[in-house]
Amino acid sequence: MTVTIVGSQLGDEGKGGIVDLYGDDVDVVARYQGGDNAGHTVVHEGEEYKLSLVPSGAIRGKVGVLGNGCVVNPRTLFDEIDTLQDRGLDPDVRIAERAHVILPFHRVLDGIEEKVKSETDQEVGTTGRGIGPTYEDKAGRRGVRVGDLLDPDVLRERLEYVVPQKRAVVEDVYGLDIDELEDPDVLDVDAIFEEFREFGRRFEAEDMTVNAGAFLSATIDEGQNVMLEGAQGTIIDIDHGNYPYVTSSNPTAGGAATGTGLSPGVVGDGEVIGIVKAYLTRVGSGPLPTELGGVVGDTPDYDEQGEGENEELANYIREEGGEYGTVTGRPRRVGWLDLPMLRHSTRVSGFTGIAINHLDVLAGLDEVKVGHTYTLDGEELASMPATTEQWARCEANFKTFDGWPEVDWQAAASEGYDALPENAKTYVEYIESELDTPAYAIGVGPGRGETIVREQPF
Ligand code: GDP
Ligand code: IMO
Ligand code: MG
Repeated sequence: MTVTIVGSQLGDEGKGGIVDLYGDDVDVVARYQGGDNAGHTVVHEGEEYKLSLVPSGAIRGKVGVLGNGCVVNPRTLFDEIDTLQDRGLDPDVRIAERAHVILPFHRVLDGIEEKVKSETDQEVGTTGRGIGPTYEDKAGRRGVRVGDLLDPDVLRERLEYVVPQKRAVVEDVYGLDIDELEDPDVLDVDAIFEEFREFGRRFEAEDMTVNAGAFLSATIDEGQNVMLEGAQGTIIDIDHGNYPYVTSSNPTAGGAATGTGLSPGVVGDGEVIGIVKAYLTRVGSGPLPTELGGVVGDTPDYDEQGEGENEELANYIREEGGEYGTVTGRPRRVGWLDLPMLRHSTRVSGFTGIAINHLDVLAGLDEVKVGHTYTLDGEELASMPATTEQWARCEANFKTFDGWPEVDWQAAASEGYDALPENAKTYVEYIESELDTPAYAIGVGPGRGETIVREQPF
């Protein structure tokens, strides 16, 4: 069977930790979208691992697959594999021949477009990894796929088509001189060919490429368990998120089928677990109706809401939760939990269960608020409106909960749900009841042993 892990908010909900938590019963962990914009943390025996491309099952020695829906930068993939090997792990990663390759100019174009957009305050605040430009070329039918790296003739033919187009974009659309770029070779066919052909040889030598759909279907037919590890989160999904402040793929459960080659029936027969952070964080731009305080450069109306008591609370939660981007190190924007957002995410992906993380971070506050509904143009809304402009105009209607004390979380986790402070249980049960979805796991710390497990999905 499959268990699909989906971020229910804006990324960084603690997906890596939950993949690891349930990883013991898993044979294969497959990513279905995104690339090295992801940063998934697994804490194992006191050691912290931050993974961008290698699926989080690697820490437990499970086979990892990067599905066809992923975009793969072989430079960062091999760096990550080498670093993990230096730390004593031996990651077994298979890459879909249909996955698209992030080429050096994709990163450069990501940076150029963000810079141009920032002149009119329209930047997304991307991770700069070239994710958007690579998916653009995929949809534009001018991309390079992992399978193309194995065939020198195909690789050269693809590059000879796409690189001159990108040179023209850089020179004629953006008016830049390629020779003055930090590394002009990013737009040189021969230089890219040499480097990426070599990656192709390494993929071949290490037998790393697969037909992902066939591989994963065979795994399931043999009765094995597959975990589908989503990256990012629902509100930065290109279809269901707050466009254009989104990533360029589908982190929601539908993406697990298209991004692996498993049928929607197979994915739907399994469990879909929504990962919920007990409050909100956001890296990058875009609205956030329950935001506390703000981050200069990312919060759209920082000047209006960036000061005062709420900012102090935001700083407190940011420090307690270590809320700085795994990939970019940027401070994350912080807000209260947003129920209309979670109702939207639950519907889009059909969560069969949720995992609520970071309850420990909120401990010690006198009160904890949640955005229960929104008011938009005098009307009360229980879920998110479809346009980002409407969402930006939504005012959150807050519900206030009494806070809960700091306790020995490790001990509480081993004792089980009943050991949680009463007020924390009230908070969990409110979320479960509003989403009509049971909490399978409750995170009270970053380690595997700091999670209360109420349900084993496999
Ligand atoms: P992901 O991208 O969804 O995998 O999440 P990240 O790894 O980017 O961010 C989650 C951070 O919170 C990591 O540093 C985790 O180790 C940590 N974390 C996960 N669950 C919990 C929890 O329940 N409590 C606390 N305090 N930290 C957690
Ligand atoms: P994980 O898997 C949080 C955000 C970026 C930016 C937007 C687009 O660790 O949860 P992109 O580089 O993808 O084109 O950036 O999406 N973003 C993330 N935010 N967690 C992530 O991944 C993210 N991946 C992308 O900050 O706002
Ligand atoms: Mg992350």
